[in-house]
Amino acid sequence: MMIDDSFFWFKRNRLTIPGVRGEHLFMHISDTHISTTDELSTPEERSETEKQEALWADFKEKFARGKLPFSQGNDEPYSEAQKISTVAAFEKQMALARELKPEALLLSGDNLDHMHPAGERYLKKMLASYEGKFLCVPGNHEAAACDGAWQPGVHTLEFDGFRIAAVDNSQRTVSAEDLEALKSLCAEGKPMILLCHVPLSTDACREEMHRIMDYFYIDAETADETGRAFVSLCEESDAIRAVLCGHVHGYHEMEFAPGKLQVVGSQGMAGAVHLLTVTG
Ligand SMILES: [Fe+2]
Repeated sequence: MMIDDSFFWFKRNRLTIPGVRGEHLFMHISDTHISTTDELSTPEERSETEKQEALWADFKEKFARGKLPFSQGNDEPYSEAQKISTVAAFEKQMALARELKPEALLLSGDNLDHMHPAGERYLKKMLASYEGKFLCVPGNHEAAACDGAWQPGVHTLEFDGFRIAAVDNSQRTVSAEDLEALKSLCAEGKPMILLCHVPLSTDACREEMHRIMDYFYIDAETADETGRAFVSLCEESDAIRAVLCGHVHGYHEMEFAPGKLQVVGSQGMAGAVHLLTVTG
């Protein structure tokens, strides 16, 4: 059973949306930072991958143990089981998804460590062979599009009584087009869970987010006009019930507005998994 593998550590949340029938399980992972090579990789790509793998072998531990200025307070599982390559970690995550069979696998960005052809080919192949539904957003380490994984624009998965909407806020703002698309979805009124990369900092959670570092969140003090409008929409729209994100490489959960849950998933490359159950 993958679920018993000591690589993984789990956080679980339940979200109640009145009117939803039954229980709906979602597997949310973030920041898998895949770096890989294949037979088509150039020598330059190989050396970049080696460099990034070495960097994360060190950094993911420092994040987990709270050894970086912006990870202070983190004390997350980190032992031999977490000291595996980003590809080995991703394969475990996908195997876990195949075992758990969530209603959707949700990837909240920095799926790839950097845009590199072998990484894109690998991710595309892994997601194509996954039989369940999935939804991805790009992280700040990634481009706006990655064939087979994510595309520009707001994308949704529809369920009976709620939807999940993927929004690219990886540059600590959203595009005017995406903001309008999200407003239209909100106007429909169907309850919505947002999937994005960068956490929101709002009046309700500013104190907690400010303990991290402004690089890691989007709020009215740091965002541009559409970014500010995005944060306000998330706070004020009755349709938006929860936000699932990542970017911080540490787990946090908080309310970003009364009754609205924000879950910051920790680093999937070090075994973090967030399981969300939506129920009525
Ligand atoms: Fe990241």
